[in-house]
Amino acid sequence: MNGQAATGAPSPGASRPPLPTRERTEERVGARRSFGETMRADVWWTQPLLVFLGLSIFIVYSTWAAFQGTHYFFGNYISPFYSPEIFGDSPHNWFGPKPNWWPNWLLFSPALLILWAPGGFRLTCYYYRGAYYKAFWADPPACTVGEPRKTYLGERSFPLIMQNVHRYFLYLALVFIVILAIDVWKALWFVDPTSGNNSFGIGVGTLVLAINVVLLGGYTFGCHSLRHLAGGFLDQFSKSPTCYRAYACVNCFNRRHMMWAWLSLFWVGFSDLYVRLCSMGVWTDWRLI
Ligand code: FES
Repeated sequence: MNGQAATGAPSPGASRPPLPTRERTEERVGARRSFGETMRADVWWTQPLLVFLGLSIFIVYSTWAAFQGTHYFFGNYISPFYSPEIFGDSPHNWFGPKPNWWPNWLLFSPALLILWAPGGFRLTCYYYRGAYYKAFWADPPACTVGEPRKTYLGERSFPLIMQNVHRYFLYLALVFIVILAIDVWKALWFVDPTSGNNSFGIGVGTLVLAINVVLLGGYTFGCHSLRHLAGGFLDQFSKSPTCYRAYACVNCFNRRHMMWAWLSLFWVGFSDLYVRLCSMGVWTDWRLI
């Protein structure tokens, strides 16, 4: 039987046929596709195009807003792009105004001190990586569509191996959720213009900031790295029912991670815009209570 059982399966000890290499596979299916070449009949380019437009608009707006350094607070509201305000001119600052040691030649904005943390968290997110590799680098533009490069070193080589810092950005992102939740609490207390006392109230801005925390929480609590920390590292869930429950909880958010990613991205930008336009006197913040 030449090392072959009657069933056709190789018998133990028989030498296995060599696995097909990438080159052999390409030989069999034909030459490598050129850039954009595909047999797909659907409109495969819509998703990468929408991702490209959505992320581009957000990057341009958030960069512009971060460099402004003005109109980032309105009474008890503070824009999430500027919170925590480590140094700054608003009543929300933690350690006073811009420090004297800050070099004159270096532009100062409270947002630039902190935005690297949530920005790094998004940049290294497993979902966004897949999305912007396709939309910005066309690597590949979509599944089974020809790509412009012949080599792919992957995320196990420099520079993409740096994406593994995502788990550390997660710890910072969790701290930001707490800080932004405290901002919502502060957004519930309004200064009475006649007595000067704080009184409880709810404005449209309070709701805008509260929705922002809910959406950012849905995005952060569905993080793949958090899922690993919560219980994904276990081989047997039966040995740790608590971890299993935590894992299942993260899984609930993780199933819709893309949805949370886009909703929270849109809303965090809108929250900044809302506070900014109220501060500029363009929009009126209506008090509901
Ligand atoms: Fe998307 Fe961690 S994988 S936030």
